[in-house]
Amino acid sequence: MKYYFAPLEGLTDSIYRRLHHKYFPGIDRYYTPFFSLTVHRALTAREKRELPPAEDLDVQVIPQILTKSAPDFIWMSTVCRDRGYSQINLNLGCPSGTVTAKGKGSGMLRDPDTLQSFLDEIFDGSVLPVSIKTRLGYSDGEEFFRLLEIFNRYPITELIIHPRVRQDFYQNNVRMDLFEYAQKNSRAPLCYNGNLCSKEDIRQFAEKYPSVDAVMLGRGLIGDPGMLSAGGTTKEQLLAFMNELFDAYAVAFGSSRNAMFRLKENWRHLFCLFEGIEKPEKQLRKTTDERQFRMLTEQIITQYPMCSQLQANW
Ligand SMILES: Cc1cc2nc3c(=O)[nH]c(=O)nc-3n(C[C@H](O)[C@H](O)[C@H](O)COP(=O)(O)O)c2cc1C
Repeated sequence: MKYYFAPLEGLTDSIYRRLHHKYFPGIDRYYTPFFSLTVHRALTAREKRELPPAEDLDVQVIPQILTKSAPDFIWMSTVCRDRGYSQINLNLGCPSGTVTAKGKGSGMLRDPDTLQSFLDEIFDGSVLPVSIKTRLGYSDGEEFFRLLEIFNRYPITELIIHPRVRQDFYQNNVRMDLFEYAQKNSRAPLCYNGNLCSKEDIRQFAEKYPSVDAVMLGRGLIGDPGMLSAGGTTKEQLLAFMNELFDAYAVAFGSSRNAMFRLKENWRHLFCLFEGIEKPEKQLRKTTDERQFRMLTEQIITQYPMCSQLQANW
């Protein structure tokens, strides 16, 4: 089985990916959160930082693009190639209202004809192999039959399916019946994504779908970052990881206060790894004091028992 770290905007930036790999090796590939292209055809300073030359990385990273403009996508494929990347990923899943209103992300699934013209152009012009991360449809799972028929026309390197529709956002059950349909009918190799939060979840998935050889994990890995590392998530590694993340963000943002707010996003998922932490959890959520935040981080990690597996509450 191959393991991919899902793209998570606001969580899995380049700093996080580098340090996650340092403390918790075992992930085959990291996908960047989406790059949303502007008309200027130039990467901003921040985008350049988020897309360092691939040769500087000691792990495989796949850049993800969110656009409905084929020329922009093709331009970005040359940028990624020139920076040493070997594949580019198209986002057809983002459910955010501001994105879908512009016909991007899962908004592209609403209009299969336009999607097809877009795919015609990008598969003709991209200088890199293209993988796709998609949902089943916009408002109804039945849309997937037509969408898969369209996907099957193109040499998609890998089709990553999050089996929900846009209207589900990240709630509601995943539609495994439609994932099974894809398993039987997709020409592209499949990767499954959605609600895998423990090794046991992965084991059960692998048992049921032996022909699928890649899974992508998002929130489960934020909550249990060493889930797929040989030693698991130990307290020592987790504390060192969180401390180095804090220091790296404080330098990158020029503000330890912003580093704290950034790491509070991680904690929303990490809380699920500990037992009996109601009181410090409340304090950590509330605090606006960096020193108290660091103290609570250390207190939770060193003094509270860890669950045998993540008790995901999403
Ligand atoms: C905060 C957040 C940010 C996300 N950002 C992205 C993104 O940039 N690109 C993308 O394709 N999916 C994004 N996703 C979706 C995840 O990649 C993934 O599909 C989703 O979390 C389901 O997988 P999981 O149940 O393993 O978390 C995001 C999800 C969350 C919760």
